[in-house]
Amino acid sequence: MPAPTLHPDLESILVTEAQILNRVQELGRRLKEIYGNEEFTVISIMNGAILFTADLLRQVDNAIRLDCIRTTSYGSTTESHGTPKVIHGLTLDVTGRHVLIVDDILDTGKTLSLIAGMVRGMKPASVRVCVLLDKKGRRQVPFEADLVGFEIPDRFVVGYGLDFAERYRNLPSIGVLKPERQKA
Ligand code: IMP
Ligand code: MG
Repeated sequence: MPAPTLHPDLESILVTEAQILNRVQELGRRLKEIYGNEEFTVISIMNGAILFTADLLRQVDNAIRLDCIRTTSYGSTTESHGTPKVIHGLTLDVTGRHVLIVDDILDTGKTLSLIAGMVRGMKPASVRVCVLLDKKGRRQVPFEADLVGFEIPDRFVVGYGLDFAERYRNLPSIGVLKPERQKA
């Protein structure tokens, strides 16, 4: 892996590319322990979870059905505002299926409690939630994920799918934006 260089808009790196890769492999092994050889349906929350989902799913050889959901976004701020809404829902039927919801980060908990509640209403066989990052200290509604990549402090982070105003999703590691870059 190439020597990590700090992107000029980042103040620091919180999780390196190598740490992500290693943890994603561990999470893949965890999924195998949980699901064995059973089929399951992954619901990935766009856009943030796209990179994590792509890497995680390649760690398991199960039959997987993949669907994506889109929720309203932050816009160009670093603060969650109001109640999230689903603006593009499921295409697959999940009734009687094992469902794994995948998101980039668990912050206030509003997005995942909305989506988990919606999925549970569809009478699946089981529902689990996997997030790459967990900002435990920020919860506004009680919500715990079944699988967590990394617990991180209350800092606004970008990279590996996470954005600020739709930018920085392509950075391979997860870092803290410089304060002067946290303006749209
Ligand atoms: P929640 O509904 O407050 O838990 O927020 C979940 C969504 O907010 C995540 O799926 C992210 O898209 C976004 N989010 C929360 N914290 C951050 C962050 O530090 N950087 C980038 N996006 C974030
Ligand atoms: Mg998101």
